[in-house]
Amino acid sequence: MKNPIVDVIDATYKYKNHDGNDSENGVTDLTFSIDEGEFVVLLGHNGSGKSTLAKLLNGFLVPSKGKVFIDGNDTADEKLCYVIRSDVGMVFQNPDNQTVASIIEDDVAFGPENLGVPPEEIRQRVDRALKTVGMYEYKDRTPYKLSGGQKQRVAIAAVLAMQPKILILDESTAMLDPEGRKEVLDTVKSLNKENVVTVILITHYMDEALDADKAFVLSRGKIIKRGTPKEVFSDAEAVKEAKLELPVATAVSEELRKAGFDIKPTLTDEELAEEICRLK
Ligand SMILES: Nc1ncnc2c1ncn2[C@@H]1O[C@H](COP(=O)(O)OP(=O)(O)O)[C@@H](O)[C@H]1O
Ligand SMILES: [Mg+2]
Repeated sequence: MKNPIVDVIDATYKYKNHDGNDSENGVTDLTFSIDEGEFVVLLGHNGSGKSTLAKLLNGFLVPSKGKVFIDGNDTADEKLCYVIRSDVGMVFQNPDNQTVASIIEDDVAFGPENLGVPPEEIRQRVDRALKTVGMYEYKDRTPYKLSGGQKQRVAIAAVLAMQPKILILDESTAMLDPEGRKEVLDTVKSLNKENVVTVILITHYMDEALDADKAFVLSRGKIIKRGTPKEVFSDAEAVKEAKLELPVATAVSEELRKAGFDIKPTLTDEELAEEICRLK
């Protein structure tokens, strides 16, 4: 049987207090695995430990207890640090501080250059990555004038040029307008489906979670719920504990039910529309 691409076993990481002792903040006893090609969302309120977990996955942080394996490689093994960093690509929140060069193609080339990839292969990788995110025709331009969504797509291309097995997006749509969010999300979904990149999406927008294969909900550094998005959002207690918003269609169907309408819980706009049409 194939190993999972991400295997987290009883992992704990606590930030230090000023006195050098462990604080309460961080993540505690996380155990889960992710298979190659899966699309996973991490949900949870501010400070619940999502970014800490992301940093444990790319080896930026190493658990104080437990283990994190990426494609079978132990993140605590310093010799493997390099391969783990190139296997796990990260895209962050702010579209404005992820560029390093004043021309888009140079920006995307930066990662593979640092990996020591030969120039002719860099050329191919840059072109392919920019085409994948639909930004190829912008390659000679400056990133500064792009929209937020376009900047994030370039940031994704820059990560893709390093050929990661796993792509982590840490609230990468948070600063975007709805159109930019859709651009980025569509890009990520197609990367997952067509290029079989394993995706871990950290988001505050519950509607972005609906297409995921599975969802993990963090609260105070622990996973308090896991399952399909449907299972997660129908667990009212977990939703409340984690202070999650509900997807729009779920919230609307709940309000209608409260108002006395005979409507089932719904997850997507399509389901909601069907339920409303069913009403007499
Ligand atoms: N560098 C740090 N030093 C000390 N505490 C931190 C640091 N980064 C995060 N924390 C704390 O750890 C907890 C989890 O933070 P984080 O993983 O950033 O949560 P999230 O990404 O879900 O908002 C929070 O209480 C946060 O204040
Ligand atoms: Mg965070």
